[in-house]
Amino acid sequence: MSERVIPLIDQRLRNTAVSIPERPVAATGLLGDTLGRPLRDLRISVTDRCNFRCSYCMPKEIFDKDYAYLPHSSLLTFEEITRVARQFVAHGVQKLRLTGGEPLLRKNLEVLIEQLAALRTPEGRPLDITLTTNGSLLARKAQALKAAGLQRVTVSLDGLDDAVFRAMNDVDFPVADVLEGIEAARDAGLGPIKVNMVVKRGTNDDQILPMARHFKGSGIVLRFIEYMDVGATNGWRMDEVLPSAEVVQRIHAELPLVQLDPSAPGETAERWGYADGTGEIGVISSVTQAFCGDCNRARLSTEGQLYLCLFATQGHDLRPLIRGTASDEELASAIGAIWQQRSDRYSELRATLPPDASQGQRRVEMSYIGG
Ligand code: GTP
Ligand code: 5AD
Ligand code: SF4
Ligand code: SF4
Repeated sequence: MSERVIPLIDQRLRNTAVSIPERPVAATGLLGDTLGRPLRDLRISVTDRCNFRCSYCMPKEIFDKDYAYLPHSSLLTFEEITRVARQFVAHGVQKLRLTGGEPLLRKNLEVLIEQLAALRTPEGRPLDITLTTNGSLLARKAQALKAAGLQRVTVSLDGLDDAVFRAMNDVDFPVADVLEGIEAARDAGLGPIKVNMVVKRGTNDDQILPMARHFKGSGIVLRFIEYMDVGATNGWRMDEVLPSAEVVQRIHAELPLVQLDPSAPGETAERWGYADGTGEIGVISSVTQAFCGDCNRARLSTEGQLYLCLFATQGHDLRPLIRGTASDEELASAIGAIWQQRSDRYSELRATLPPDASQGQRRVEMSYIGG
């Protein structure tokens, strides 16, 4: 058998054991980390697989046919995911995002969505349930996702030009099929729809204006994301980052923009509206303008590791508690204690960190913990 050994240390094995705290951390909804940040947003990765090979996320040379994805037995079941999500909701989480890899590759995902849609906040409100997808399977699945209780989707799309898009996804996937998926999502009522475009200078920055023109006035919110140094495999270089300020300038020169107020605390995107009132765009500037100050996001990997930052080198292994004898209260208490100790703010520190700051530990891949 030739399961290839991944060079360096596989970051998925580097996890902190989680214990049940001696002094219980009750789920009051008032939890804060060491910087006073609440817990509001849980991103749940449901598979580490994807049918695309975007070079900034799953470069082909690493994620090849021999790559050792998680075995099926490692994945949390839908019941396990829902049980963990329920404890996060008790602590104050209001938004759930399903991610991957590509979440629509997980079989019967609608069943999980149905279970999550039944959860309620302590005040009795339903949660904001959304999903990040590359759109390739959306045309087929949009109706069923809506029927299961999904409210909205965010579709990743890195260009409108077919050749540029095929090169970005690196599996020769046609742009027309993603556009069809977006239409299907719209027809199914999965809105407000957002489209996320990662901008790599010199690769797809010529798509900024065509994308802006295409989605202006459509009701779909297009967001431009600075290419980030997430993970350890994408060969990130600062000179390939196009600062959001430049994205805004380029669009503003042709389609005048005015800055809008944030719609929620801790949000990733800075909002800009078209001056003629035909909608808005967003820019997500993790590299040039960090937004860790109010970061209220936690991430749960497909196999039950809790990550406190997109740039973490270690997760907190909840699976033994989930699969063991821990009660719901004990599980919630363990999650609460982990959040209370959180101090992560990687993007703010990026510029000041010495090159060896991670002490040889690899950062976790985004395809493993989700965007
Ligand atoms: P909405 O609720 O729809 O506004 O979504 P969101 O912006 O909270 O989440 P989304 O997953 O759409 O985020 C878009 C992109 O922003 C992700 O794909 C990441 O590239 C980046 N991003 C999201 N969360 C974080 C974060 O906590 N830190 C950093 N550095 N980048 C993030
Ligand atoms: N930089 C910025 N965003 C990234 N994503 C994945 N890798 C990166 C990266 N290196 C985000 C994109 C994509 C989502 C699934 O993850 O927004 O749409
Ligand atoms: Fe797949 Fe999304 Fe990563 Fe691209 S960015 S490889 S579509 S998970
Ligand atoms: Fe949150 Fe980490 Fe992103 Fe900062 S870098 S916003 S702490 S996930």
